[in-house]
Amino acid sequence: MDYEAYRVDSRRRWEGAASGWDERREAVRSAAAPVAQWIVDAADPQPGETIVEVACGLGDTGLLAARRVGPAGRVILTDGAPAMVEAAGRAIAATGADHVEARAMEAEWLDLETASADAILSRWGYMLLADPEAALREARRVLRPGGRIALAVWAPQSENPWIGVLQEQLLARGLATIPEPGTPGMFALADQTALTELLWAAGFSDVRLERVPFAWEAPDVDAWWEHMRVTSISLGETLQGLAPAEHYALRDAVDAAYAQYARPNGSLQLPACALGAFALA
Ligand SMILES: C[S@@+](CC[C@H](N)C(=O)[O-])C[C@H]1O[C@@H](n2cnc3c(N)ncnc32)[C@H](O)[C@@H]1O
Repeated sequence: MDYEAYRVDSRRRWEGAASGWDERREAVRSAAAPVAQWIVDAADPQPGETIVEVACGLGDTGLLAARRVGPAGRVILTDGAPAMVEAAGRAIAATGADHVEARAMEAEWLDLETASADAILSRWGYMLLADPEAALREARRVLRPGGRIALAVWAPQSENPWIGVLQEQLLARGLATIPEPGTPGMFALADQTALTELLWAAGFSDVRLERVPFAWEAPDVDAWWEHMRVTSISLGETLQGLAPAEHYALRDAVDAAYAQYARPNGSLQLPACALGAFALA
């Protein structure tokens, strides 16, 4: 894999997806709240502590932690995509918290002093990185000795039909490929043994993992499709390459596959499962 080409392409894609994430801010914040809550509970931020969120997106998790550290503490939200950082900045402004800041920063090269943070948080970031072990070593460098890391990745695709249903249809049509083992992707760190060993390899100890189930909600399948289209870093481009008939055929197949998760009123409740990990530096 060409790591640098991947990093450039990934940053471009996330930069492009930031407006969709901003638009869907409330839907993501509310549905994924159990995962943010798991991370914050695991890290257990204390008043006055310094907390860093890595690959923060709009900063849901860090903003939750900001309430725990209080004004005597400090929370630094970081993300590699400047447009995400701007959106996180707007989220900070909406809370009025002046002990929280948002800064553009690569997860693999954190622009922060050694041993300067008490805890590092990240929801759905590390599995997307070109070199997650290097990024975890970097997190450990920034943590003070004994500092905590609490992160979430995705559990296996089989436990995530909210995206698995769509992925299967895209794969069946040759519109997606399964990432090679050892390369970045949504499910790259879904294996519990591999994730534990990765944290050990990066120098962490006391690793504890836990599945965190939750559900995405949508008023109907059209709304869910739109949610996926605007928040995905690849679906929009894939759809643009389709002829109208191919697009309609894909939509019909995807709608039919999601029907099993519809309530009688047509609203969707889509099972999802994250894998939470806690460790000590
Ligand atoms: C799936 S989103 C998760 C956003 C947020 N943490 C949440 O849970 O709502 C992944 C985030 O990782 C960021 N990201 C991807 N690669 C990164 C990198 N190499 N360094 C820092 N951030 C990165 C993206 O810009 C995006 O905001």
